[in-house]
Amino acid sequence: MKISFSEKTSAEVQIFLVSEKSSLPAAAEALNGQQDGLLAEALKTGSFAGKVGQVASVVLPAGSGIRRAVLVGRGTDEADDRTLERIGGELYKAMAHAGFSAIDVCDVTDTEAVRIALGVKLAAYRFDTYRTQLKEDQKPTLDTVTLIVSDGQEARTAFGPLEAAADGTYLARDLVNLAPNDLYPESYARRLEALSEHGVEVEILGEAALEQLGMNAMLGVGQGSVRESQLGIMKWMGGDPDEDPVVLVGKGVCFDTGGVSLKPGAGMEDMRGDMGGSAAVAGTMLALARRKAKVNVVGLVGLVENMPDGNAIRPGDVLVSASGQTIEVQNTDAEGRLVLCDVLWYAQEHFKPRAIVDLATLTGAIVIGLGHHYAGLFCNDDSLAEALTRAGQTEGERVWRMPLGPEYDRQLKSKFADMRNIGGRPAGSITAAQFLQRFVQEGVSWAHIDIAGVAWVEGEKAVTDPSWASGFGPRLLDRWIAQTYES
Ligand code: BES
Ligand code: MN
Ligand code: ZN
Repeated sequence: MKISFSEKTSAEVQIFLVSEKSSLPAAAEALNGQQDGLLAEALKTGSFAGKVGQVASVVLPAGSGIRRAVLVGRGTDEADDRTLERIGGELYKAMAHAGFSAIDVCDVTDTEAVRIALGVKLAAYRFDTYRTQLKEDQKPTLDTVTLIVSDGQEARTAFGPLEAAADGTYLARDLVNLAPNDLYPESYARRLEALSEHGVEVEILGEAALEQLGMNAMLGVGQGSVRESQLGIMKWMGGDPDEDPVVLVGKGVCFDTGGVSLKPGAGMEDMRGDMGGSAAVAGTMLALARRKAKVNVVGLVGLVENMPDGNAIRPGDVLVSASGQTIEVQNTDAEGRLVLCDVLWYAQEHFKPRAIVDLATLTGAIVIGLGHHYAGLFCNDDSLAEALTRAGQTEGERVWRMPLGPEYDRQLKSKFADMRNIGGRPAGSITAAQFLQRFVQEGVSWAHIDIAGVAWVEGEKAVTDPSWASGFGPRLLDRWIAQTYES
């Protein structure tokens, strides 16, 4: 999908946004005059009332240059960013299969145009990798959307970073959508290495290196799998070479069967998405590189597969984490925290993070608590929590802060080891976060984002979120980094 900005119209299809007041915008009015009132007539016929999602299409007589004018509802004249994105998504959806390859979107302000363009881009995502029988009419014909603005150069400049973030969303969606027989730790590592084309430095550590480092909690999760566990290290060094990095950490459980504490069969296929946190991190690294962000950011992803097997970890096993703290495994399905605790240790052992943000599809409990509309935010630093909350609001990837505290931490007491890996039924998402916090050193600013409810789309799909994987994360993180460290 090519999205461009121009000061002049050229496509044979022109889109006009009409509000619920249902009067034609200026450029449409001019065309209406030339066409004997055809557009005004279209406004009055049928059920078109200018609502977002409504479309009325007018075929124009041959010889008029333009073949079609399409009226697209915009709701109010003062649509907010989220609505503008939705309008972009709706107009893409209406035109994607209409048989035209190019459309112009007319009569929008330059700022509106930029957000509408983002909506078009997000809605145009497809994941057809495994489809061999798509019919021609199932493939989109539309490949160029041009937004008509007063200053094309300025609009392009404003769209650049948003498009970069959306490229990150695309990558995250692809990774989450891929089948677990295609995307396993080593094949995932190869995909991360491809980020070096964009200027991201990528290093992969295999099991021998992880053993050397003593990352036995993470290795424990992967030991029941025939696939070798991998630690992915991605660096975007766009800032001052002496500047300490922001560190992003992602849970990359390529498939989570639960291990010996096996999950029920129904719905287990969704656990292909249990690497959504790592996908958010990879997507953010791409976004930073695409927009050449002037900041240093390190992305660390723990890539493993959680399988039951003769060699798998058992409930009752005690693991010695890289930090030296010992963990009694009471449930092999609480594996994400075992991966993350060692990666968090790595982050602090090898870098001096200005802040650490980890993302993980960590608990089913967060889905019970917040559903599919907010990710859970756990944070030891109020200003970091506020900045992440604000960035999430701005980009429509919302987080809701949850509490932490010693009373929750006590639920992790073990009879045998420094801690156990589950905290019992009450407050399951909070005790998971408490577990992680035990691996965060004094004075380190840290946030954990539990994305189990938002990494893929359950139920009603937003038009800007057309596939199973939402690609949650890169827009939020990229915005937070830009706002906090680059201005
Ligand atoms: N990957 C799951 C969490 C999850 C559940 C993500 C549903 C997305 C949708 C995680 O590894 C897990 O199994 N957590 C357990 C923890 C429990 C054993 C303490 C859970 O939530 O049931
Ligand atoms: Mn699990
Ligand atoms: Zn999991």
